[in-house]
Amino acid sequence: MTTPATPRPPVNLDWSTLGFSYIRTDERYLSHWRGGQWDSGQLTLDNVLHISEGSTALHYGQQCFEGLKAYRAADGSVNLFRPDQNAARMQESCRRVLMPEVSTEQFIDACRQVVRANDHWIPPYGTGGALYLRPYVIGVGDNIGVRSAPEFLFGVFAIPVGAYFKGGLTPHNFITSGYDRAAPHGTGAAKVGGNYAASLLPGFEAKERHFADAIYLDPATHTKIEEVGAANFFAITKDGQTFVTPKSPSILPSITKYSLLHLAEHRLGLKVVEGDVYIDRLGEYSEAGACGTAAVITPIGGIQHGDRFHVFHSETQVGPVTRRLYDELTGIQFGDRPAPEGWLV
Ligand code: COI
Repeated sequence: MTTPATPRPPVNLDWSTLGFSYIRTDERYLSHWRGGQWDSGQLTLDNVLHISEGSTALHYGQQCFEGLKAYRAADGSVNLFRPDQNAARMQESCRRVLMPEVSTEQFIDACRQVVRANDHWIPPYGTGGALYLRPYVIGVGDNIGVRSAPEFLFGVFAIPVGAYFKGGLTPHNFITSGYDRAAPHGTGAAKVGGNYAASLLPGFEAKERHFADAIYLDPATHTKIEEVGAANFFAITKDGQTFVTPKSPSILPSITKYSLLHLAEHRLGLKVVEGDVYIDRLGEYSEAGACGTAAVITPIGGIQHGDRFHVFHSETQVGPVTRRLYDELTGIQFGDRPAPEGWLV
């Protein structure tokens, strides 16, 4: 739970129409790594970074980021959802691109400070919106060779957000991409900007064809689903009894996906499988969805693959298991349903 450090005037926003766009909020956190350690960090009103033109983040993609949300509960308190998991994933990402790790304590403390300082930007309970936190680590300082940076910045900023895919819990259609998002033993499992840069053209081409985003197949054989745009994928088997989600070293380990795996098993009594979802065997599933912090759960109406269009439950209606998962997950996040031990800060 957080309480605002200083009361501020209410924000004049139409919470009901919030999408997923940058909004400059008041304060953000910055910590500098110099001489072998992170400093204690501080909040700043300035949303512009002043960094060396030689920064490795600009040239060699030495950077990573995270996404997590703060939710306003009915009693006015604020929940951060599993920030320790984001801290751990950011540590993995930092290791992968040779950057110093931020401790879990510093990560959570930075998030708490940013939430407190921007309390009045947290969408009210009942609007469905949340305060999205974007932590990042970037390599900075004078450099030109392909090597790790001499200095680093760890920042966290916050933005009030609504649905990532327009309409929230309404089905969207997707199309498989011929491009790979990540290489088999590359950086797909790390949350680094290069993976997202690689997804910009496929995403653009999918949207030009009036699909919500691109679906990426496994880079080695192009026969199995890996990811949906910037989100993970799940499906429910035809008998409604099993939650299936792809397993691969090139998939970003989504915290929402692992939370859904837990809830599917322990709250919905489903079998859960991390395994292969073959693109030419979609008929085995009655429902499918995209899941992630930003996407929450976005039902997949249909998937275009080559000249075939496969519809799951419906192109307009959310399926029953997807809805139960959504209600369980968001109920926990907004404090309406009991959370598993340690999930809310
Ligand atoms: C998130 O779900 O937090 C993500 O990181 C996806 C984002 C790139 C929009």
